[in-house]
Amino acid sequence: MIRTLRSVVRFRRLEWSLAARRLARAADVGDLRIIAKRRLPAGVFDYIDGGAEDELTSRRNRAAYQRLEFRPRVLRDVSSVDPSTTLLGKRVPLPLVLAPTGFTRIADPDGELAVARAAARAGIPYTLSTLATRSIEEVAGVAKGPRWFQVYVWKDRGLVRELIERARAAGFEALMLTVDNAVLGRRDRDVRRGFSLPPKIGLDTILEGIVHPGWTWAFLRAEPISFANVVGRSVGDGSDPVTLADYINAQFDPALSWADIDWMRSVWDGPIVVKGIQCVEDALLAAEAGVDAIALSNHGGRQLDGAPPTLELLPSVVESVGGRIEILCDGGVRRGSDIVKAVALGARGCMAGRAYLYGLGAAGEAGVDHVLRILDADVRRTMALCGVTSVADLTPEFVRRRGSV
Ligand code: GLV
Repeated sequence: MIRTLRSVVRFRRLEWSLAARRLARAADVGDLRIIAKRRLPAGVFDYIDGGAEDELTSRRNRAAYQRLEFRPRVLRDVSSVDPSTTLLGKRVPLPLVLAPTGFTRIADPDGELAVARAAARAGIPYTLSTLATRSIEEVAGVAKGPRWFQVYVWKDRGLVRELIERARAAGFEALMLTVDNAVLGRRDRDVRRGFSLPPKIGLDTILEGIVHPGWTWAFLRAEPISFANVVGRSVGDGSDPVTLADYINAQFDPALSWADIDWMRSVWDGPIVVKGIQCVEDALLAAEAGVDAIALSNHGGRQLDGAPPTLELLPSVVESVGGRIEILCDGGVRRGSDIVKAVALGARGCMAGRAYLYGLGAAGEAGVDHVLRILDADVRRTMALCGVTSVADLTPEFVRRRGSV
């Protein structure tokens, strides 16, 4: 009987690891988002998932990718597809950079270390945030892959200079200056929940802790979360509960201007990426300022609600500065096909932040590996289905706005 059954049914091997079981059923980043939502306390999930005010920009970032269609070509021998390209002069396996995200340890105790290790395994550049919860040196100690450092400019320029010097000493290859948060956007979800770092403990936190035991157990066992890059400094290292809005508005310099790019040049001789460009005029100013790349970004819709979706800015920005500097595009990237669309429109590559945080929240480091595998496979498959075998051949003829012929 068993033998007969065996001959017609193949049993799945029992997977003992809970994380692996969760991941086996996650077909895409959207699935990982759902798992992360289940596993993380609501305040943590909302901090990651949310956008500013009505979240219009956050939704439109995503919708812009969905409005763009492909114009596939066929019978073109796609037996060998190569999605590699160069970013800031270095070969990378995919046109992708992992975007900087603050507070990463709230999703998983290893936080930035887990993300940096996964990125290094995939050979994809990882951008460590100034507001990281693991330090420049800790990250450099565990991950030897390409590393970029994101800079927020404190009022205390001596501190910024020191951070830049530490990044250089630790082998970080590029600086990414974020320029779209002169003040912090209003994230209504965080305001409603009174979200702070570290989370303040109230009755709601205790209840959330009970219904998310996996997260709570890991969080309670790990060492306390802080802004690891500035521990012990006068600017506050996040060891006392603080809202991000209060922290950023008190510590970061709203007087930041184009003159600061010159200053940054004087203290850093490697590539500089300006992140947060949202119109052609500023793209031109960035090119004139001599930076190496810009990232079209509205901070994933977390800053100015009503800012334009980055993908829609891309064609005009490519036309004005595409020949002079590299252009990255972020906001709403959830699939490899999104990366292919942006590159077809002239982006050098995309950045993704939430996508890997969903993976991290769903299953820790293995979840980030899973996201990177999905994106890699997506890009290869999409290129093949479009009839394209190299990134250099991905041109605007391969996409069109939905509705146009
Ligand atoms: C930090 O930069 C955030 O967007 O929360």
